[in-house]
Amino acid sequence: MSQSCNQNCAGCAENCSDRKSNKKSLLEQPHKLSNIKRVIGVVSGKGGVGKSLVTAMLAVAMNRKGYKTAVLDADITGPSIPKAFGIEGHARGTGDGMLPLRSKTGIEVISINLLLEKDTDPVVWRGPVIAGVVKQFWTDVIWDDVDFMFIDMPPGTGDVPLTVFQSIPVSGIVMVTSPQELVGMIVDKAANMAKMMDIPILGIWTDVNIVDRKK
Ligand SMILES: Nc1ncnc2c1ncn2[C@@H]1O[C@H](COP(=O)(O)OP(=O)(O)OP(=O)(O)O)[C@@H](O)[C@H]1O
Ligand SMILES: [Mg+2]
Repeated sequence: MSQSCNQNCAGCAENCSDRKSNKKSLLEQPHKLSNIKRVIGVVSGKGGVGKSLVTAMLAVAMNRKGYKTAVLDADITGPSIPKAFGIEGHARGTGDGMLPLRSKTGIEVISINLLLEKDTDPVVWRGPVIAGVVKQFWTDVIWDDVDFMFIDMPPGTGDVPLTVFQSIPVSGIVMVTSPQELVGMIVDKAANMAKMMDIPILGIWTDVNIVDRKK
């Protein structure tokens, strides 16, 4: 058992003898030059409830606390993270792998919009191709030293969340919701998906301000 064992085998990439589940692991190894300590997904199931904003704010908050922080933008068809951090330009590759870009305060970011020629170019790809790109953001990007990586998820419970939960050792997720019955029903689907896949829910972010604004 590793010294840093937190007893959460679902969120761990090590294949040690104390592993609690005998299920075949689909976890992918990160790039050999990456050193990522904790991965937290930001999920809702529902679109437009503030996942990307919450992802960016969590990354900023942890960065301000002195942790080395990164954001993996797993929303391939609706990438918001570079814009949220004011990052422009293109990610470049070395012989070894791809390098993320850094925000002004040092948060490392990778997003499909850092690879497209123009940030308005649409991504019109089938689900498995999209999920493959997300996997590559984990396996082919050189994430130097990262204490906390936040993954901004797309809406829904499809290919991308499935790939992230199966391929990346996610320590847990933060659920984002807003106080409306319809939103709650869809968000419950994502919460149930996480439970089915043994992914711990670390917290729930409800934006009551949205309700207040409408009063
Ligand atoms: N607390 C808030 N107060 C005001 N505006 C907000 C708040 N949270 C989010 N927004 C705005 O609502 C819109 C949707 O937010 P965001 O893009 O973060 O949602 P999302 O869940 O990531 O959406 P998608 O599912 O499309 O990825 C954005 O324009 C964002 O600036
Ligand atoms: Mg978003």
